[in-house]
Amino acid sequence: MRNNITEKYWSRFPDTYDKKMEYVVGKELLDEIIQELNRLPELGELVEFGCGTGIYTEAIVSKTESMFATDLSDSLLAVARKRIDDHPKVTIQKENCMATSFPSEAIDSVFMANLIHVVEGPSTLLEECYRILRKGGTLVIVTFTDKDMILWEKIKMGLRFVKSWGKPPAHTHSFSPDDLGSMMTHAGFTIETSKVLGNKTKAVYIIGQKT
Ligand SMILES: C[S@@+](CC[C@H](N)C(=O)[O-])C[C@H]1O[C@@H](n2cnc3c(N)ncnc32)[C@H](O)[C@@H]1O
Repeated sequence: MRNNITEKYWSRFPDTYDKKMEYVVGKELLDEIIQELNRLPELGELVEFGCGTGIYTEAIVSKTESMFATDLSDSLLAVARKRIDDHPKVTIQKENCMATSFPSEAIDSVFMANLIHVVEGPSTLLEECYRILRKGGTLVIVTFTDKDMILWEKIKMGLRFVKSWGKPPAHTHSFSPDDLGSMMTHAGFTIETSKVLGNKTKAVYIIGQKT
């Protein structure tokens, strides 16, 4: 039931999703995230959770041997499929990131962008990442946050969000690097990189290794 509500929420605007995203958080931050992903080392076989329309799938695929781009929303996956257009390295499939069909300890890297701050159980999501990753595997998380944003920018971003999406999803968190870092440590990851990206709008960027 809850999955249906989440799926419905995110599936409403497949054709205008990218424009809305850019309007709410700004192109500057989206570009900075992509630049950061371009600096990642080789990530082997990777699973992306919550790929949406595939904005970051396109950016990260060159760092992988092969990848699965997954999401709960059929309509967003359809847009991702068009964008990725039969890329030989990418398999697009529907998955609930809280309990996926991937076998345990089978995957080199997991990546998620702007997902963990909107799920009901962030710890459960991190446990699922831990389960499917091989020992020594890499977890890359980037996720919007309003921590460290000045009040006026927070208000403006909130208004842009409501104008574009209406009411925010039921479970929206705002993590600092420390919040997310301690959840990841608790789930069994060693933190390698942790920083805040962005100027007016912000995202936490954090990389951990399964130990
Ligand atoms: C804010 S959007 C981010 C999409 C994309 N990563 C991006 O940055 O443009 C959140 C995405 O997470 C997906 N999502 C939410 N809950 C999910 C779940 N339990 N399993 C898989 N995907 C989920 C939504 O369908 C949506 O595509």
